[in-house]
Amino acid sequence: MAGPATTLPTAEDVMSLLRGVIDPELGSDIVELGMAQGASVDREGVVIVTVALTTAGCPLRAQLQKDVRARVGSAPGVTGVEIRWTEMTQEQRSSAMAKARWNARDRAPETEIPATTRVVTIASGKGGVGKSSVTVNLAVALAAQGFTVGVMDADIGGHSVPRMLGLGGRLAGVEGEKKIVPHEKQVGPGLLKVVSMRFLVDDEDSAVMWRGFMLNRAVQHFVEDVRWGAMDYLLIDMPPGTGDVQMGLARMLPRAEMLIVTTPAVGAQKVAARAADMARKSYLRVAGVIENMSSFTCDHGQTYALFGAGGGEALAADIGSPLLGSVPLEPSVGSGGDAGVPVALGQGLAAEAFRAIARRIVEEAIPPVDMAGCSARLLHDVEAALGPK
Ligand SMILES: Nc1ncnc2c1ncn2[C@@H]1O[C@H](COP(=O)(O)OP(=O)(O)OP(=O)(O)O)[C@@H](O)[C@H]1O
Ligand SMILES: [Mg+2]
Repeated sequence: MAGPATTLPTAEDVMSLLRGVIDPELGSDIVELGMAQGASVDREGVVIVTVALTTAGCPLRAQLQKDVRARVGSAPGVTGVEIRWTEMTQEQRSSAMAKARWNARDRAPETEIPATTRVVTIASGKGGVGKSSVTVNLAVALAAQGFTVGVMDADIGGHSVPRMLGLGGRLAGVEGEKKIVPHEKQVGPGLLKVVSMRFLVDDEDSAVMWRGFMLNRAVQHFVEDVRWGAMDYLLIDMPPGTGDVQMGLARMLPRAEMLIVTTPAVGAQKVAARAADMARKSYLRVAGVIENMSSFTCDHGQTYALFGAGGGEALAADIGSPLLGSVPLEPSVGSGGDAGVPVALGQGLAAEAFRAIARRIVEEAIPPVDMAGCSARLLHDVEAALGPK
């Protein structure tokens, strides 16, 4: 990262990063639950985190370990992550379970996004680099693998997501409740759940009126008041830049991870790095970089680097996140968007690139939450053990 790349995080910074690690079963982050009990950072950038499990044989240990390593390990300056596992005392356990029970039963949830959903924001330093195209194409590519994928159009002013997915019409509300039901679209064995300001207003002009001060409120609405239901991934198409909406989302969803879209132009990574800088300040993890509008291959098979080359790699190296792939410049990306049929559902180099990036997301960059074998701490067991409230 530009500038203070060598500045090490403090122990407090590490605890803030750990707020992004959710215990998927108890439904809160591990700091709030009292599981993250302390952190230290040595001069070489090695972080030691103490995590107390509710039971030593906790089946989610592997999942928590992966998440803690990913979150803390990708912070600038961190060279290693060591986890010291301990077990909660009876008292700590009761308090964690009480918190979980309170979350599950008594508290109006802050968000209806399930604890097991991976939240991914698609961001960039500047506009027009292809955030919306990347969002919808990754969404359909993930759904084609069988996942249930939410798509939140947080670009209230631009809202290109509905057009690119061929969706229209107003969103329905839940009878008697102030809840919004997302539009659904089946993609092969998977499912998309889509919300956009475009579905709440009747015409593009009134959507534009939501610009400015209402913008953040609208996004908050999408975080708090949408009946998302089960969902493996939630992709959020961000407005361009690094302003209030981005910071607001980071505050509302500290567990979000960011994918940064950049163009291959030499120097483009400097602008894109602003998005990474924002991620760092908000303690979000940058899970990867996607280069868009890379080389163009003509019908004769000749390849041209129209917008330069190396921007994605340079950014990835600058910020210490992996380059997940490069999407070539291809007219079908634009025409697929115009037709409401994302190119990733079809053939060609761009389609293959999107599908390959989606596979890398699932396999390494942001694997879905693994709940397999997890039954030891189901809430009702916990409640039974705790007795009546
Ligand atoms: N790989 C590509 N090949 C060809 N055209 C592309 C590609 N990626 C995006 N485009 C086109 O570039 C334009 C901008 O893309 P898109 O709307 O996805 O960018 P954005 O970053 O979301 O823009 P904004 O900042 O305005 O929200 C669109 O017309 C889109 O069809
Ligand atoms: Mg856009």
